[in-house]
Amino acid sequence: MNFYELMNKRRSVRGFTERELTDDEISMLLEAATAAPNACNYQSWHFYVVRGREKISGFVPTIYRGEWFRSSAIVFVVCTDAEKLGARFGERGTDLFAIQDTACAVDHLMLMAAGLGLGSCFVGAFDEVECRRYLGIPEGRRPVALVPVGEPATDTPKRPRKPIGEVVTFVGEDS
Ligand SMILES: Cc1cc2nc3c(=O)[nH]c(=O)nc-3n(C[C@H](O)[C@H](O)[C@H](O)COP(=O)(O)O)c2cc1C
Repeated sequence: MNFYELMNKRRSVRGFTERELTDDEISMLLEAATAAPNACNYQSWHFYVVRGREKISGFVPTIYRGEWFRSSAIVFVVCTDAEKLGARFGERGTDLFAIQDTACAVDHLMLMAAGLGLGSCFVGAFDEVECRRYLGIPEGRRPVALVPVGEPATDTPKRPRKPIGEVVTFVGEDS
């Protein structure tokens, strides 16, 4: 599969079969996430890998209210760990670069999932405080995304995008 095919294959999947992920699949997902571009190569991220349906079910509804989340085979809780970026860039480091780093990591992870025939979803609308409490996440790390992964239970149609002309402004001589 080339990148064009992979990019078109990925979509947000919200419902999974009972199949567990193999250790190899989990390693490949983490390898992809940590291969992402990141500010200064400080790798200002930390990944909690939540396994087991019982532990995953404990996210619902307090941390995340979607019932479908319970069917996830695994959940990656993606956190910033921005001490070095903060020391070097201040708030821009902690509140922008570190979050951008994690967004790049999540996208890499999700594309790897699609390449492996797995489904995933970027979940941002969760309760950060409850999540921190549930997993014992220390103050130095900030949970910014939940990424449930599993074998898709059904096919998900591709969601349309705005036409390129609506979201792009070309600037320069040939515009
Ligand atoms: C920053 C961010 C936050 C998101 N939060 C949620 C969420 O809380 N719950 C959810 O079901 N999907 C969430 N999504 C997934 C989007 O709804 C989805 O990417 C969008 O509808 C486009 O669909 P597609 O990913 O299938 O192309 C989020 C995506 C991003 C990038």
